[in-house]
Amino acid sequence: MTQNDSTKGAKPSSQASTPVDDGAKDPSRVDPAPIASARTANPVRYRGVSANILDAIGDTPLLEIEGIFVKLEFLNPSGSIKARIAHYMIERAEQRGQLRPGDTIVEATSGNTGNALAMVAAVKGYRMLVVMPEGLSSERVAISRAFGAEVLFCGDFHVDQALQRAREIGEQPGYFCPSQFDSESNIEENRVVLGPEILAQLPPGRVPDALVLGVGTGGTLIGVGQAFREVNPKVRLFAMEPSESQTILCGEIAGHAIEGISDGFVPGIFQRNAALIDEITAVSSVEAVAEMKRLARKFGLLCGPSSGAHLLAAHQVRKLYPELQTVVTIFCDEGEKYLSEHFSGRSADSSFVFG
Ligand SMILES: Cc1ncc(COP(=O)(O)O)c(C=O)c1O
Repeated sequence: MTQNDSTKGAKPSSQASTPVDDGAKDPSRVDPAPIASARTANPVRYRGVSANILDAIGDTPLLEIEGIFVKLEFLNPSGSIKARIAHYMIERAEQRGQLRPGDTIVEATSGNTGNALAMVAAVKGYRMLVVMPEGLSSERVAISRAFGAEVLFCGDFHVDQALQRAREIGEQPGYFCPSQFDSESNIEENRVVLGPEILAQLPPGRVPDALVLGVGTGGTLIGVGQAFREVNPKVRLFAMEPSESQTILCGEIAGHAIEGISDGFVPGIFQRNAALIDEITAVSSVEAVAEMKRLARKFGLLCGPSSGAHLLAAHQVRKLYPELQTVVTIFCDEGEKYLSEHFSGRSADSSFVFG
């Protein structure tokens, strides 16, 4: 066949779109099956056109890592699990008439809830005032500002002073303070949305035997714990604290590197529901940060220090109680929020020696 024969009558457009090396010339060649992935098995996550970024909150993957079931909540918009309660608390307040167009949302936060509320406020057209202590990762401040929020600094590292200030501001006309540390809507989101989402993702026939989590507000541990108790009344709930600052266990308040938990006081949500908790565990900041770096290098999961702490605490629980087969934890926030604090050095973060 000449060059002319092969091209005779062919439409230029169909020639241009012919894939290179598609196997058509070799009838004996059998192509392998298409590569299956979570996406091809479940191809449409968002059906149709989404209204806005808030539609992308939730529906995050559940991974099994070293025998522990891990919910990847750092994949939420704004980079943390807090997108869920931010969206939920604001929509509840709108329904109840506590928040009206033109109002300002004000909240005390160690950062992630501020980022998440600032995102929700941007989408919905509210003004946002984030009240947070100094001494937390600079990315958290920058992210809130990027969403158009104003940031008011109050106190150092722990959130108790910011909490007081946000409450006072929230009582003024034109302001609404969701009060994440006390809010029943916080618990409710975790009980009716996040908890059932995890239960639906576990392998068929498996129910959780244990939930291991740090305590910021306590909303996740309590709310998800309540959802788990509905399918397994014996599920054990483990609260994890930094070993340097065991506030729940013994009132100790000190600095630590597991940002997002152990904010310097026992939150109202935890106090009201303490009877649901079975045990309190601890992980040191140094171990948490080292484990966070291992997660990035070994699994491609760029998360914050509390994710490292959660996996370590979950392993402790499995070792101590081997009968607890289905242990669940959560990776709550993204590592990008900690680049300047923990990932900016070159050699310190690498497990390789180049020579
Ligand atoms: C970074 C981070 N955000 C949020 C949470 C969950 O917080 P809360 O207790 O407020 O539900 C945790 C829990 O460990 C966390 O580590």
